[in-house]
Amino acid sequence: MSERTLAIIKPDAVKKNAIGDIVSRYEKAGLKPVAMKLMHMSKRTAEGFYAVHKARPFFDSLCSFMSSGPSLVLVLQGDNAIKKNRDLMGATDPAKADAGTIRKVHGTNIEFNAVHGSDSPETAAFEIGYFFPGMEIFG
Ligand code: PPS
Repeated sequence: MSERTLAIIKPDAVKKNAIGDIVSRYEKAGLKPVAMKLMHMSKRTAEGFYAVHKARPFFDSLCSFMSSGPSLVLVLQGDNAIKKNRDLMGATDPAKADAGTIRKVHGTNIEFNAVHGSDSPETAAFEIGYFFPGMEIFG
């Protein structure tokens, strides 16, 4: 079933010049970028995006990190895009991620973990709409 997911190549990975490698992994796995933009989020934008984690102890540092530099925000489309992207990403903590996953290769620790991916169809719908109006998605 073709679906869409939101992916973010986070500021740590953009800084390391890893955009090309990560986008290439999406494409090789059959995930087509149908929208994408490089953006430096404001702290308020990051707080709105991660509002579901507002009560978590790491909320403030996560939002500071996400607004510390530019990120590449993408919509990926393909069969089982949400799960496929989560599999490519690996576990949240790079130390626990499987060999060959994006977070294992490009992540540093649980905070600077290179990429984000929607975790459910409901989250994907919210996250895609948060960054992209329909007319900017070319699927
Ligand atoms: S969840 O909701 O149970 O899946 O939570 P989780 O995936 O563990 O984490 C949600 C996002 O918070 C980030 N995170 C952290 N940031 C900073 N410090 C700490 N300790 C920390 N723990 C988790 C994690 O990278 C997730 O970010 P996204 O962008 O969603 O991957």
